[in-house]
Amino acid sequence: MAHQLLKGKKGIIFGALDERSIAWKTAIRAVEEGAEIVLTNAPIALRMGKINELAKLCNDAPVIPADATSVADLENLLQKSMEHFGGKMDFILHSIGMSPNVRKAIPYTDTNYDNFLKTLDISALSLHKVLQSSMKLDALNEWSSVVALTYIAAQRTFPGYNDMAEAKALMESIARSFGYHYGFAKKVRVNTISQSPTITTAGSGVSGFDAFFTYADKMSPLGNATAEQCADYCLTLFSDYTKMVTMQNLFHDGGFSNTGVSQSIIEEMEKAAQANG
Ligand SMILES: NC(=O)c1ccc[n+]([C@@H]2O[C@H](COP(=O)([O-])OP(=O)(O)OC[C@H]3O[C@@H](n4cnc5c(N)ncnc54)[C@H](O)[C@@H]3O)[C@@H](O)[C@H]2O)c1
Repeated sequence: MAHQLLKGKKGIIFGALDERSIAWKTAIRAVEEGAEIVLTNAPIALRMGKINELAKLCNDAPVIPADATSVADLENLLQKSMEHFGGKMDFILHSIGMSPNVRKAIPYTDTNYDNFLKTLDISALSLHKVLQSSMKLDALNEWSSVVALTYIAAQRTFPGYNDMAEAKALMESIARSFGYHYGFAKKVRVNTISQSPTITTAGSGVSGFDAFFTYADKMSPLGNATAEQCADYCLTLFSDYTKMVTMQNLFHDGGFSNTGVSQSIIEEMEKAAQANG
């Protein structure tokens, strides 16, 4: 149900690859809530993905390519978006993650450092580049909101998450540090949402994904948060109802992060112990 929560707001949504993407759901919900958006993704993702379908569903939103590791691309995106909107913007969703080490199933303890640096550049520094370019071009109105998506492997070890754990830890730190500077300079807020495992292209690329999806679901009092629910949470952070929230890492995980063990997991362990005699 729409409430016109974002009426009059304009923003950029990074990272909608296909209809499973968290960014895809957020784009649709943002438009339903009255926002005007620009869609963007890496040029290769634009060729392979279905973003033009999404653009149609979003009142013919412009699609502007940008590799989020390229400052030139990001500046072009911000400038073209401001031309399109006829002024500054109010929100940005950074929904970007990629690790060549994960993609090539290279173990963490045998990492390829060129890949590792690419992981950090694409998945973490890109947030700094988006923020720095926005600040330089003065692309965001006061009280704008920038949200980036992260995962709890930044704080606790999930072995299959590989070097994405370091990328997310760095990205969360960038959100805090830049949030400080952007807050004092322009009253812009910067937060990360730490989302439950979600079945998407990036999510299911992580080794053992199905097992830890089920594990997290059984551990979380509310179950895993879906991509749609994550989209709704993003909208609240873009809205004026969360104006004083900044520099936070906000868990959106059905309670997983504060649960030690659940009764359901204990019962499974007991069953396994009995089966093993
Ligand atoms: N799926 C999960 O389980 C999960 C859980 C927590 C957090 N997240 C985070 O949510 C965000 C969105 O991922 P998703 O699960 O919707 O998967 P997704 O694969 O649909 O989205 C990832 C996006 O990153 C884009 N991308 C990769 N390299 C890029 C580059 N150089 N420049 C610009 N864009 C680039 C891809 O094209 C893709 O659209 C990511 O940051 C991911 O780490 C996902």
